[in-house]
Amino acid sequence: MKKYLVIGNPIGHSLSPKLQNYWLKQNNIKAVYDKIKLEEKEIEGIIQDIKKQKIAGCNVTVPFKKKVIPFLDKLSIQAEQTQSVNTIIFENGNLIGHNTDSFGFDKAIKSLNFNMKGKKVLILGAGGVVPSIVFAIKKMGVSEISISNRTKQKAENLKILFKELNILEWGNIINFDVVINATSLGLNNEKINLDFSKVGKNKLFYDVIYNPAETNFLKEGKKLGNITENGATMFIYQASKAFKLWHGIEPAVNFETLKLLKND
Ligand code: ATR
Repeated sequence: MKKYLVIGNPIGHSLSPKLQNYWLKQNNIKAVYDKIKLEEKEIEGIIQDIKKQKIAGCNVTVPFKKKVIPFLDKLSIQAEQTQSVNTIIFENGNLIGHNTDSFGFDKAIKSLNFNMKGKKVLILGAGGVVPSIVFAIKKMGVSEISISNRTKQKAENLKILFKELNILEWGNIINFDVVINATSLGLNNEKINLDFSKVGKNKLFYDVIYNPAETNFLKEGKKLGNITENGATMFIYQASKAFKLWHGIEPAVNFETLKLLKND
């Protein structure tokens, strides 16, 4: 039986197995998808197992999205430009790194019917998922992308990949059309102690976190009169693109798949 994996550290919280195994069953594919917590020194061995076809493919999550790159033969355009790989496939003797997070974000915004054209966007955080979000946003015709991260140097480092980024001091939140929380603040119900009152009303507050479904950041955005959305759709669409890359089938994305994440 073919075996697929998600690798990361920590990995206990990952809902990828639940979603991928649901789609495998739904499409009558005889394969299994598991999660495994890795230490950095074990990455090379696991990737070699894909080359040997002991493992059919894998997803990669924090903190390894960049660290897997030296062990791969080729990168997709998205993976190259974001220096971030979340899906590995083995094709024609080559290990290929893909990035499906940017696709996930793009689909999530489209499914909201929110027009990003000409909008001023603020991203909070500079961690693993941010390059993928910037890559997707750049293509939406926004007027400005600002980044604010507690550790300013990490935001500055992103300018090497994306020269157009505007780096702000942590918490310097003025009027934006879209505010995206890409920090891990909220995963454990922590508050983001920032003042969003200058953002105004009827803007989009987007959180990459989907569990809990409503972080304090989203609660605050809602209270101030804004549209809010969590990261569930982004997560599902990045997974659906990985599924398509491995199995050649576009899996169903619907209310049932959303419910799978909520039941956890
Ligand atoms: P990594 O930074 O290893 O890629 P991540 O989960 O992708 O991990 O990113 C965590 C993000 O949440 C970072 O932007 C981090 O800010 P720092 O770069 O300053 O660490 C941010 N973050 C985590 N805890 C935070 C806190 N208490 N206050 C502000 N930002 C925080």
